[in-house]
Amino acid sequence: MNSNPFSLNGKTYLVTGASSGIGAQTAISISKLGGVVVVCGRNKDKLNEVFAKLEGEGHQIIVADLYTQLEDVINNCPKINGIVYSAGITKHIPIKYIDKKNYDSVFDINYTIPVFLLDKLFKNKKIIPNSSIVFISSLASKFPFKGGTLYAGAKAALDTYCKTIALEFSHQKIRANTINPGMVKTPLLDGAEETISKEAMDEHEKSYPLGFGETTDVANLAVFLLSDASKWITGTNIIIDGGLTAGA
Ligand SMILES: NC(=O)c1ccc[n+]([C@@H]2O[C@H](COP(=O)([O-])OP(=O)(O)OC[C@H]3O[C@@H](n4cnc5c(N)ncnc54)[C@H](OP(=O)(O)O)[C@@H]3O)[C@@H](O)[C@H]2O)c1
Repeated sequence: MNSNPFSLNGKTYLVTGASSGIGAQTAISISKLGGVVVVCGRNKDKLNEVFAKLEGEGHQIIVADLYTQLEDVINNCPKINGIVYSAGITKHIPIKYIDKKNYDSVFDINYTIPVFLLDKLFKNKKIIPNSSIVFISSLASKFPFKGGTLYAGAKAALDTYCKTIALEFSHQKIRANTINPGMVKTPLLDGAEETISKEAMDEHEKSYPLGFGETTDVANLAVFLLSDASKWITGTNIIIDGGLTAGA
């Protein structure tokens, strides 16, 4: 163990969704704390941009669509000390508009794929003892919104999945937690603005005592959860929301 429990020196982490938003910032923050990062995403150009911002050496890029190229990720991933699973999409789909296609698209990336990714990484012994697994879930899993059945449901399943990992792998001191953020300023939020007006979004921000979050706010929690400083924290769903639900 490092003498500085917050250090990630000598450790290697897989970050999915590393080409954008929270995942991109988390990869950069890991590298600033001395960790080596395997950055994974679909968009090669955006991954290269993130890669160029990483400090230190030994980092790796895996360009893969997790829907269709999961095997490439498993095969190219080295042995790791942890994962930040940040890949995800959000869609507003009112209950009457749910069909098999939109159900699969939202559930697959937010729940089914992380389950099978972890399954295969465990079976291939890529996740070593004392590792830390962090899923970027959502505040929506605890406080759903209209049109959020699929997204909030998938994230709620992820919240529970993390607890079962914590229970089943504690003998290897492998920890698993979710981060459940409220609104964070990322391209995902820009996507939400296609279905919710900018005015409505600005109004919503006023209900956040500390305003919407920055990607660094979430990344800082993620690197803490990866580090030995959090070695007694496992099986938790940690809300980070600028105070939105403090009075809920
Ligand atoms: N932003 C928020 O307000 C907020 C709030 C709560 C929770 N979250 C959660 O935080 C996580 C990150 O969100 P973000 O805001 O950082 O979003 P973002 O900027 O849109 O980034 C999403 C990431 O997911 C990747 N991704 C999506 N589908 C993929 C697929 N099929 N295969 C591989 N990668 C895929 C994207 O890769 P490419 O760019 O390469 O396509 C991108 O790197 C998500 O799980 C989201 O649900 C976000």
